[in-house]
Amino acid sequence: MTDRKRPLRSAQWFGSADKNGFMYRSWMKNQGIPDHEFQGKPIIGICNTWSELTPCNAHFRKLAEHVKKGVLEAGGYPVEFPVFSNGESNLRPTAMFTRNLASMDVEEAIRGNPMDAVVLLVGCDKTTPALLMGAASCDLPTIVVTGGPMLNGKHQGKDIGSGTVVWQLSEQVKAGKISMHDFMAAEAGMSRSAGTCNTMGTASTMACMAESLGTSLPHNAAIPAVDSRRYVLAHLSGMRIVDMVDEDLILSKVLTREAFENAIRTNAAIGGSTNAVVHLKAIAGRIGVDLELDDWTRIGRGTPTIVDLQPSGRFLMEEFYYAGGLPAVLRRLGEAERLPHKDALTVNGQTLWENVKDAPLYNDEVIRPLDNPLREDGGICILHGNLAPRGAVLKPSAASPELMKHRGKAVVFDDFDHYKARINDPDLDVDADSILVMRNCGPRGYHGMAEVGNMGLPAKLLEQGVTDMVRISDARMSGTAYGTVVLHVAPEAAAGGPLAAVRDGDWIELDCDAGRLHLDISDAELEVRLAENDPTEKSRRIASDGGYRQLYIEHVLQADEGCDFDFLVGKRGAEVPRHSH
Ligand code: FES
Ligand code: MG
Repeated sequence: MTDRKRPLRSAQWFGSADKNGFMYRSWMKNQGIPDHEFQGKPIIGICNTWSELTPCNAHFRKLAEHVKKGVLEAGGYPVEFPVFSNGESNLRPTAMFTRNLASMDVEEAIRGNPMDAVVLLVGCDKTTPALLMGAASCDLPTIVVTGGPMLNGKHQGKDIGSGTVVWQLSEQVKAGKISMHDFMAAEAGMSRSAGTCNTMGTASTMACMAESLGTSLPHNAAIPAVDSRRYVLAHLSGMRIVDMVDEDLILSKVLTREAFENAIRTNAAIGGSTNAVVHLKAIAGRIGVDLELDDWTRIGRGTPTIVDLQPSGRFLMEEFYYAGGLPAVLRRLGEAERLPHKDALTVNGQTLWENVKDAPLYNDEVIRPLDNPLREDGGICILHGNLAPRGAVLKPSAASPELMKHRGKAVVFDDFDHYKARINDPDLDVDADSILVMRNCGPRGYHGMAEVGNMGLPAKLLEQGVTDMVRISDARMSGTAYGTVVLHVAPEAAAGGPLAAVRDGDWIELDCDAGRLHLDISDAELEVRLAENDPTEKSRRIASDGGYRQLYIEHVLQADEGCDFDFLVGKRGAEVPRHSH
């Protein structure tokens, strides 16, 4: 126990025979821990986002128990600690608003406490990036354990997918195709087990990102939450993190530029959420990897989407796991020489390719061959133009091919309330070729950039059988949603972006292949219109309220920069702070 290759960080708390060592040890002992149980052993923090208000992570105390068993078996000592749990389903105005807050909590809790390494228990959408961001700023040995997806939803004898079915059924109610009673009946069937959304929404996407980045053991992304193998994986992760201490396998050795390129390619292959664009940028910013929006075009575009999961396709996460899970996808990419960096290191000490090269694949319909993909043009489409000088995103696999090159007249909503008040007005001048434009829903404008970008279509058009229209906003959209939806327009209207200048009836051109988003007015006219606005005025008024909201509005970066706080970007390390007494 004392012949470790390098001194333990935790020894700076527990290792000295003096007043300070006495204090640190003595209070730990009030939990009934004998001296030999933690003295000289790697102390493994288990960073837990358990909360009954984050239903997707509500099974995490059990998950933590299995991690602890693994840590103990490998000769470490586990200490579980709670951090802010930003649950997607309950938190208002959006869990994104508190992603950075949670990351600060994580970073300071890791740095200020006696731990040599950390296990991140993540699940619901924002918990994965928040914990990775905080951990990256510290850079200790780190391993991700995800809570796993829910079982398939069941309703009226059919499988239904988290989130996706809500969008589908609510449009069917509006179009008069189903009753409100039928709609409400789907509630309990959709969420019938512990776990995260079972579609390829943001939670599943970020779980796949964590695995393709190399920060988790293979299969972490897809094992269902209630499958006993999920708990085996938690146990094995607990064992592995202890070895990572001795190997000094810190997070920055895994989270390299190469790892992010692998993740971007993986996102294309799985048909992952647009939210990954924002979160990967924020994580990369913390660890010091330079990632640009255009990397998504360079690395991701042209990669076929081969995972046939909702919302882009048919199946759910259960089938994905049974078909072979992410290792099977990575193997397929690698065999076609489409995995950019096979030699990227992962947390188990092997390369990504070593982990997946023999991965079995059991179902060609769920994980399709590259020459028979769900969509040829997977990846995230990055758009630029006078309407999005710093970029915007669209997910081709969720869009209608015939709308990806489109010219239409704008119908403009000043904010989400304006949209709700106006969208079903029978006199609204809108048809299937119109482009719905909504502003003031970005990071500053909405406080957190809510997932309202997939604006529901006008009821009168739904009744006519219209199923998709081009929509443009500075908002995000749920990874479970679909449609020809342009998101993350940067800069946002509330930061002086040109969305603020669009008027009803303006012509807008979208051309995904050319990566172009253009407002058809002259530069001079655009300038005049923008000069008439003072977008910062509203922010200033809100910011004077104080509290976290003020901090948020004053420091949040735009979507193309990952919506981190300006003062949080970068790595501050895990140097042990001075004593508390
Ligand atoms: Fe938590 Fe979807 S709401 S994962
Ligand atoms: Mg979501």
